[in-house]
Amino acid sequence: MDFYDVLEKRRTYRDFARQEVSDKILKRVIGAVFKAPTNDHLRQFEFIVVRGYTEIAKVVAPLAKNMAAFKNLVAEVDESGDKDKMAMFADALPKQQKMLMESGVLIIPFFRQQTCPLLQPAGQSSLNYFASAWCAVENMLLAATNEGLGTVFHIPVGDEVEKIKSILNVPEGYEFTCLLTIGYPAEGAFLPKQKKIRIEERIHQNVW
Ligand SMILES: Cc1cc2nc3c(=O)[nH]c(=O)nc-3n(C[C@H](O)[C@H](O)[C@H](O)COP(=O)(O)O)c2cc1C
Repeated sequence: MDFYDVLEKRRTYRDFARQEVSDKILKRVIGAVFKAPTNDHLRQFEFIVVRGYTEIAKVVAPLAKNMAAFKNLVAEVDESGDKDKMAMFADALPKQQKMLMESGVLIIPFFRQQTCPLLQPAGQSSLNYFASAWCAVENMLLAATNEGLGTVFHIPVGDEVEKIKSILNVPEGYEFTCLLTIGYPAEGAFLPKQKKIRIEERIHQNVW
């Protein structure tokens, strides 16, 4: 695929077909991570791949309890009354658990948090490990799109981080960005309307 087509086609899918993603494709998608820039040159990323509905259900179990917290979080941030945004949330909220199970493959991308604890940064540069981890996720999203796959991730809220780390037996010093799934989009999968941006209005010459 042309690179700009990949950018155009990368969308957040929340409805997947029950069609297995092969190990070969999965390896290519995860491999794309190691081409992303990293702050310390080391690319200290590790992945847990969970396959099958029963195994995924064990990992995403804490989500059900936290759905209320997630809804509150969304209500808190919404002051805009933006219709497109609310259409996205209306679709996304009830699907947070289901969307992670449907394709039968769940990826949890871990990164080494080497300096301050993630939630106690000493300065902006303390967030470099987190920033690198997100660059890595974006590479996966684009690689998956190039393979004809859809992607979606859930950001852990409330106590999900600690619960999920404990279920997965994660060693000290590792954090994860999200619960990520990739899969073949379901026929007629709902895609919220993307905002049309006038690029020239977002570019400021010399000063803002
Ligand atoms: C930092 C971040 C957090 C997000 N959290 C979630 C989430 O927890 N659950 C979800 O379904 N989508 C989540 N999304 C996906 C956004 O809703 C989505 O990217 C946005 O609506 C734009 O749609 P598009 O990706 O199809 O262009 C998140 C995206 C980003 C970048």
